[in-house]
Amino acid sequence: MKRVKTAFFCRQCGNQSVKWLGRCPSCGEWNSFVEEPVSAQAGADAAEFATRDKPRSIDSIEAGDRDRTSTGLAEMDRVLGGGIVKGSVVLIGGEPGIGKSTVLLQMMECLASRKLPVLYVSGEESASQIKLRALRIGALSADLLVLVEVSLENIMDHILSVNPTVAVIDSIQTICSADLPSPPGSVGQVRESSEKLILMAKRKGIPLFLVGHVTKEGAIAGPKILEHMVDTVLYFEGDSGHAFRIIRAVKNRFGPTNEIGVFQMSERGLEEVTNPSSLFLSERPIDASGSVVIASMEGTRPLLVELQALVCPSNFGAPRRTCIGVDHNRVSLLAAVLEKVLGLRLASQDIFVNVAGGVRLDEPAADLGIVAAIMSSYWDQPVEGGTVVCGEVGLAGEVRAIGQRDERVKEAARLGFNKAVLPPPSRSEKPSTGSQGTLSVRSLSDLSQVLFQGNQRARQRGSRGSIDKTLDK
Ligand code: TYD
Ligand code: MG
Repeated sequence: MKRVKTAFFCRQCGNQSVKWLGRCPSCGEWNSFVEEPVSAQAGADAAEFATRDKPRSIDSIEAGDRDRTSTGLAEMDRVLGGGIVKGSVVLIGGEPGIGKSTVLLQMMECLASRKLPVLYVSGEESASQIKLRALRIGALSADLLVLVEVSLENIMDHILSVNPTVAVIDSIQTICSADLPSPPGSVGQVRESSEKLILMAKRKGIPLFLVGHVTKEGAIAGPKILEHMVDTVLYFEGDSGHAFRIIRAVKNRFGPTNEIGVFQMSERGLEEVTNPSSLFLSERPIDASGSVVIASMEGTRPLLVELQALVCPSNFGAPRRTCIGVDHNRVSLLAAVLEKVLGLRLASQDIFVNVAGGVRLDEPAADLGIVAAIMSSYWDQPVEGGTVVCGEVGLAGEVRAIGQRDERVKEAARLGFNKAVLPPPSRSEKPSTGSQGTLSVRSLSDLSQVLFQGNQRARQRGSRGSIDKTLDK
């Protein structure tokens, strides 16, 4: 009997090695190598789909941007950069139960209702389960074809014979190629199946959507290794405790990254949220200390979100810094800056920071909002109702310029905010029109003057270096 050739793969990043390693040299993960069979087949398949293209001048090539097909869901089109590009491969990752199958079925219904044939391949659910979901969200067009199959070879045959406008594979972890003896979901199978599917998509010009599961531990071969291979990577964010679902483009060869689409899970599937800012602010407590509204740029769209901080005396030796939706290290850094520059006694205080609505902020422009929320909670002094705050904070307590200042101010004005606290415009930016309500701050002491000048205690330590000994006694 012929011996099966094996190799060791990292479960985290898919790195291949001839021998077992304790630590992956590529991603640094410990104890992540598993032994799996390898196929000698892949090279032969690549030859089958070879394009036999010749070198040619770039000005003779057509851009093909007209080949974009609208999905029918405006939020989905936005994250894809304007619609589905012919022959592109999109990977949708997200935790189980977040709504990947639902949003894809809805998207396919929108296409099928325009008489465009679409193929939904499921390896996870039975046809009747899919029908139940389809009944719930009203996806019942005749051009929506459903295939329940896990064999890669059969799936590829069906895709080629149907030649759909879009094909969805739900999920890539359930697909299994006969060329490899390893089970579905293993690193080898995921890589092999996606390689072949991607080659087919490019060669035949059929757009593909691949669903990929991620677990918190990254135990199965997750979409991480696929991210390099596909054109677009979308991540589904949001937790099951909230109705909001955000689809974020983390990689896009055909459009801007970090663009987000906002949805709300309802009884009848996912509904698009066309005005996310007002939704995120709808439950905001007015005149509560520790609550600040910031204008964050998500891709090309400004988004107003509420940021909350709670500062309270620490009972144990080491104060806690707990953050949801913002980077923990960033909050520790900003707390240290506040301590040094404004003399806030934060070393003896626990700090909790939360972004309302389950949104995640990773823009430095959120710094000033975090700082303002901490100051507000520490001094127990609310920030005035119609105020938005944004800017980056440096280690010396200086407030640094941010991009797209005008867009943020406009969005804030549109939602009825009459005061925007921002860094001064950078020299290249011309002062914006209609900026009556904008207040420029250059440092954290400026910020404390602008936001908390009515506070007696804040005023006492408004100038740099004056430590609040009186308060803490
Ligand atoms: P699903 O799309 O199956 O998640 P995934 O494919 O990412 O694993 O979504 C399942 C969840 O969505 C489930 O918890 C039920 C909920 N849901 C609704 O609330 N309303 C609906 O109309 C549908 C179809 C699902
Ligand atoms: Mg699913």
